[in-house]
Order: sequence, then C-alpha cells, then structure tokens
Amino acid sequence: MSKSSTWDLKQRMQTLLQGGGEKAVEKQKQSGKLTARERIISILDAKSFHEYDLFVEQAGKDFDMDKKFLPGDGVVTGTGTVGGHPICIYAQDFTVAGGSLGYAHAKKITKIMDHALSLGVPLIGINDSGGARIQEGVNALAGYGEIFFRNTTASGVIPQLSVILGPCAGGAVYSPALTDFVFVVDKISQMFITGPEVIKTVLGEDVDKETLGGARTHAEITGNAHFYANSEEECFAQIKKLLEFIPWNCQKKADSLPKKSPRKEYRLDNIIPADPAKPYDVRNIIKGMVDDSDFLEIQELFAPNIVIGFARIEGNTVGIVANQPLYLAGVLDVDSSDKAARFVRFCDAFNIPLITLVDLPGYLPGVDQEHAGVIRHGAKLLYAYSEATVPKITVILRKAYGGGYIAMCSHHLRADFVFAWPDAQIAVMGPEGAANIIFRSEIKNAENPEEMRQQKIEEYKEKFANPYVAAAYGYVEAVIEPKETRHFVAHALSISKNKTQSTPYKKHGIAPF
Ligand code: HXC
Repeated sequence: MSKSSTWDLKQRMQTLLQGGGEKAVEKQKQSGKLTARERIISILDAKSFHEYDLFVEQAGKDFDMDKKFLPGDGVVTGTGTVGGHPICIYAQDFTVAGGSLGYAHAKKITKIMDHALSLGVPLIGINDSGGARIQEGVNALAGYGEIFFRNTTASGVIPQLSVILGPCAGGAVYSPALTDFVFVVDKISQMFITGPEVIKTVLGEDVDKETLGGARTHAEITGNAHFYANSEEECFAQIKKLLEFIPWNCQKKADSLPKKSPRKEYRLDNIIPADPAKPYDVRNIIKGMVDDSDFLEIQELFAPNIVIGFARIEGNTVGIVANQPLYLAGVLDVDSSDKAARFVRFCDAFNIPLITLVDLPGYLPGVDQEHAGVIRHGAKLLYAYSEATVPKITVILRKAYGGGYIAMCSHHLRADFVFAWPDAQIAVMGPEGAANIIFRSEIKNAENPEEMRQQKIEEYKEKFANPYVAAAYGYVEAVIEPKETRHFVAHALSISKNKTQSTPYKKHGIAPF
C-alpha cells in the first residue's frame, strides 16, 4: 500500500470520527454527555470495538440535505465483546443532525441488527436522537418501521438492551419499548413521542422536558425504564452486570460461576415479624437465599409492591419474583402484574428458572384498579406463569390469599415445586374478612357480636390459616423451616435441570396484552 493511500485513509477517517464537529461535541459535553464512540468504548471490553460503515453517506435530497455533510449519517455501529462474549452495538450521534434517523442511518442500524440475529448475540442500542429525520419524510419513517420489525423478530431470540442517553423522541423511543431492557440516566435521558416544541405547536402547551419524560418519570411512573442510574458510568456498570446474568441467546444458558453462600447477615429465620400484619423487606429474604447475597433488582422504582431481578443459586442464574410487603402489603395491581408478567416471559424465553416468593393479601380491590384494567393486566401474570416451561419453584412465606395464591406461580399454574414456611396462610381471604362474610348472621345474632366475631376468626384461622390443608391436598410439596429454604430450592433446581415440557401445537397464544 502506498504512503499516500494510507494518508488518505487516515484523513478521511479523522474527518468522519469528529462527528458533528468541535462545536457540537463541545455542546454534547456541556450537557454532561459522552460522545457516541466514548459510550461504546466504555461498555465494551478494552480495545474490542470494531466499527463498520463509517463511510456510509446520508441519502436525503430535499431541503438542501444533499449539501450537508453528516459523518456516518449520525450513527456509529459495530461489534465487540463484553466479558469476552461477542456483542453487536450501535450508538446514535446527537452531534450529527441531533442523531435524527434518515434512510442511511436506519440502514446502518438494521444491518447491525441483522448481524446480531444471525450471529445469535445480544444487541445494545444507544439512543440519543430526535427521532425520524424530518427532512427525509417517508424514508425516515420507513427506516423506523424496518427497525421495529427487526426488534420484534429478534424478541425472545437474542437479548436486546436499549440505553437512552439524550432527548429521545418518536421512533427513538418506540424501538426501545420493543426491547427487553431500557436503561436511563438522571438528567440525561428523556423519552417522549413528541418533544416540547411539537407539543407547543400542536397543543399550544408549554411542557417541561423532565416532567414529560425524564429518567425518573420513566423509572418510577410509566415503567418504561428498567434500570435507573445517576451517571453514564453507573449505567454502563449496570449493563455489564446484567449481561453477566443472562444468556447470549435463547438456545444457551447463562454462564455458571463458582457457588458462594449467602452473606451471614441475612438469616432467614428472623426476617418475618411474628405479627402477620407487620411489613418487612422481602429483599432481605432474597439475599438470604442467593449466592453471595448478590441480587440485581430490575424496575426497582416502579410498582415496588413486587420485586423482580436476577441472582444465582449454586452458581446458576435464577429469575426472582417476590411480593414486597413493604408497599401496599405486596398486593397485585395493574402495574405489579404487568411488571412481573413481562419478567416471567423474559426468563422463560431465555432458559432462566423462576423462583417465586409469595406473601400477599391478593389483588388490589377498588374502583381505581377496576377502571385501570386490573382484570386484563392481572390476567397477564396468570398467562405468563402458565405459559412458562422453565423450572418454576415457589416458596410461600406468609400470606397466600385468593387470586394472589393462584397467580403467584401455584401448582395449578404448573409450578414444579411449592414449598411453604410453617407460618404460611393459604386461604381464599384473610381470617377477618372470611369470618365477617361466612358467619355474618351468627355474629349479628350473637349476644356479644364482637366476642362471637373473634371466636369465628380463630375458628377460621385454625382451619385454613396454615399451610397444612394445602399440603394435605398435595398443593405444597413440603412445609420447610425458613433456614432450609436455600437447600430445598437448590435441590429442586438441580433436579429440574433437564426439565422438558411439551405444549400443544399453535402458531402462538393470544396473551392478554
Ligand atoms: C431533523 C432534527 C430532529 C429531527 C432534532 N434535529 N430532531 N433534525 N429531524 N427529528 C436537529 C435540530 O434541528 C438541531 O439541528 C439538532 O438536531 C439538535 O436539536 P436541538 O433542537 O437543538 O436540541 P435540543 O434543544 O436538545 O432538543 C432536542 C429535541 C428537539 C427535544 C429532540 O430537537 C425536538 O423536539 N426534535 C423533534 C422531536 C420529534 O418530535 N421527533 C418526532 C419525529 S417523528 P441544528 O442544525 O440546529 O444543530 C418520528 C416518527 C416515528 O420519529 C414513528 C414512531 C411510531
């Protein structure tokens, strides 16, 4: 190769690698953001990034777009490794036309998505974009359509991670919504269908970006985000940690690590208060069961009445779903059903056994929940657990009332093993409510109604508020002491390793979503 061709290559690359130029990069930095390439390099193993399609040129012809120089058409794509495993990645470059998506930009993304799918490796998309490039009209919309189609095709085949690192609008939020995990960073991430300027034009309203779709809004209120971080660095650490827990594609299992005992401070026999009305933090029970007490919680701020996340038991990844008595007594409502159902489906698609910890008074009653669709959303959890064919192990810690008992991976939804702690109460409802309904006339007609009410509550408790009736029917395999939990769960997992379960032929079910 001649000296001049090397020089020419270097010159060309240098120009393209500047992105939108010094001024735009300066603006990006001033808003506390890294550049597209810096972000990719921070996520991938050192020196593993290989960039492709750097020389692709933008395709817009109208509104003088053909006179504009848009390096790489505003997106960086390539491959690399994380923890030694291969990965496909793209990052939109906000310094180039606001990371907006034109025809060539979309082509680069769909090409790397096709690679991810055919190679069977995870896809990470870093989104920092104003959405469809307005000047490119239908070609920009076509580009997003092609991305959405591929997101859907790849769903359940390879893990898809979306990182929101800027003001993302339009298609830049719908693609993430089709993926498995969405990461947001405080004061940097925004997600909305249309930005404040368009809202002002269309609705004549002034809206604040953060309120409209800031990181906290999506982590806490909408549930669109799964991981919330305070800085880009913290976000990248979360991505790497998540990738340690999940398999590379649906035909693989997650990497095993050497097993480790839970840390000593988490002792299972003294976490649940003696008074069944008192709350406790179920995360302490999870930490008392899993290797090194290491639990990666997902959607921590959204619907906190249910806790979901990944951990390991004897070195192997498990997905954990647990009612959280600290919030709303751990009830199932619209949001918690939605949150848990989606997680169950991810675990099932990617061969991750499910551990369900039960302590709940049932589904949340009331007009608000009924009108918000608790029937439809609650059904998602029934569907997800029934459909899941991975090993399913359930531990009833305390209350398992009504629909909550069934929905939280009971035997009837095909849990492989159900264990119950000695103080578990498995019944249609709590003793107080039950006594008030079934003994209404006896209580009303008694000489001392309150005394009679207490007597009937005690009778009901004795009959049903324990795990032994369910155990007598075989709905609970074993009543175990809290301290034996890890041992029983680990054994159940170990013997379920080669579980196979056939399902009737169908194209696909009609999940209630
Ligand atoms: C073309 C765009 C653009 C877009 C931003 N830019 N969005 N160019 N098409 N969609 C350009 C700006 O003109 C500007 O160019 C540069 O990017 C930086 O943008 P700013 O507005 O200066 O940045 P900021 O103040 O940070 O605001 C960012 C923003 C805002 C909130 C994203 O730009 C915005 O509201 N954009 C429009 C968002 C939107 O409504 N998108 C929906 C598209 S429809 P210069 O040259 O001045 O630096 C869509 C359909 C998909 O996506 C369908 C999904 C189902």
